[in-house]
Amino acid sequence: MAELPLVVAITGASGAPYAVRLLQGLAAAGQPTWLIVSDHGFRLLATESGIASIEPLRDRVGAQAWDANVRVFDDRDRGALPASGSVPTKGMVICPCSMGTIAAIAAGTSRSLVERAADVVLKERRKLVVVPRETPYSDIHLENMLRLTRAGGIVLPASPGFYHRPTRIEELVDFVVGRILDHVGVKHELPRWSDLDPT
Ligand SMILES: Cc1cc2nc3c(=O)[nH]c(=O)nc-3n(C[C@H](O)[C@H](O)[C@H](O)COP(=O)(O)O)c2cc1C
Repeated sequence: MAELPLVVAITGASGAPYAVRLLQGLAAAGQPTWLIVSDHGFRLLATESGIASIEPLRDRVGAQAWDANVRVFDDRDRGALPASGSVPTKGMVICPCSMGTIAAIAAGTSRSLVERAADVVLKERRKLVVVPRETPYSDIHLENMLRLTRAGGIVLPASPGFYHRPTRIEELVDFVVGRILDHVGVKHELPRWSDLDPT
């Protein structure tokens, strides 16, 4: 049976390199991916990774792998496929996930395709992984993350470990992306603790 698509959203929290690496990992694994980028997701992609639109993102992921695996949806189109619970998907990853988007999902507002797709994934009891990046957290942030967790979501913060003694930014990024891929059951060759133990 064909692999179900994974919905991936990029929103406006700091951490665009995580999103690029995640898309590369999914494409390398041949995972069909339905991509939604919010306006501020593009803003952060431009600021942090020099990617101002879909075309350079496709180039960064690799045009061939992109064309074989990635389908892009407009965040303003709340009637697109990821907005429907009757369309089967493997679940959804929001990476990075802004506190604004977390709040909207926690409140069930569904005012964009990202928000609606996440709402659908939760109601259909599929896997939702959100990758927040904020510091410090307010009461409101923590309560919203708790609500998502209680609704079945997985809050997987962009908090790389240092026990493998990373010397390059890419190693920190891979640490987080490897954990995301593990949670959505996508095979990868990013380093694991067992490979990294420096002792
Ligand atoms: C340069 C920049 C950095 C930002 N960093 C963060 C961040 O790390 N975490 C966060 O929750 N919001 C951050 N924001 C704010 C969000 O982008 C903003 O709340 C936006 O409305 C989120 O919309 P979206 O979730 O639809 O992308 C940042 C905004 C800018 C312009």
